Amino acid sequence: ILKLFAALAVGYLLGSLNTAVIVGKICGKDIRCHGSKSAGLTNTLRVLGKSAAVFVLVGDILKGMIACYIGLLLGVYFYSGGAVDSVSLLVAGAGAVIGHNWPVYFRFKGGKGALTAVAVLFMIDWVIALLCLGFFVIIVALTRYVSLGTICATMLIVAISFIPVFGHTLYFNIFACLMALMVLFRHMENIQRLLLGTENKITF
Ligand code: G3P
Repeated sequence: ILKLFAALAVGYLLGSLNTAVIVGKICGKDIRCHGSKSAGLTNTLRVLGKSAAVFVLVGDILKGMIACYIGLLLGVYFYSGGAVDSVSLLVAGAGAVIGHNWPVYFRFKGGKGALTAVAVLFMIDWVIALLCLGFFVIIVALTRYVSLGTICATMLIVAISFIPVFGHTLYFNIFACLMALMVLFRHMENIQRLLLGTENKITF
């Protein structure tokens, strides 16, 4: 239990390094006061442009992966029904997403956690991650709503987590459901805008 707590703490502290806030500060703008006010990749692209977005893309992927790697090193595993999952990796990954959304260094105002969650998912199961990423790309290409793509891909992770052929444990199901709840909660305003037809479309 001590190791799991350590995984959560390390994940949270790493995830709290919100790169969108950091790059915003470097550019002299608080990203949380502009655009959708979300400290994430989409809003950075919208408000600060492509170079800043690349910084966020790399930074958020790296922090999610490093958190998971440390979680993996902590080595807490769970076996059930022939499947095995590193619970310390799952907990560290969840911590990273929580940290990204509610960063301790930036008054607990962060982003929506989707990119960090994707990085974490790649560390857990790259096949599932690729499937979800592909689904996300299709939805965004068809609708140009990043938020809709994120929400749909998150739902797909939950559905997939229950398919036995992917060989995951109950802990992965719990992780997927928690991530989905977090993503939905952080996308409440996007959902309202989608329903009203006023959601921002992505342009490059
Ligand atoms: O991952 C965030 C994305 O789904 C929506 O971002 O800035 O349009 O609210 P944003």
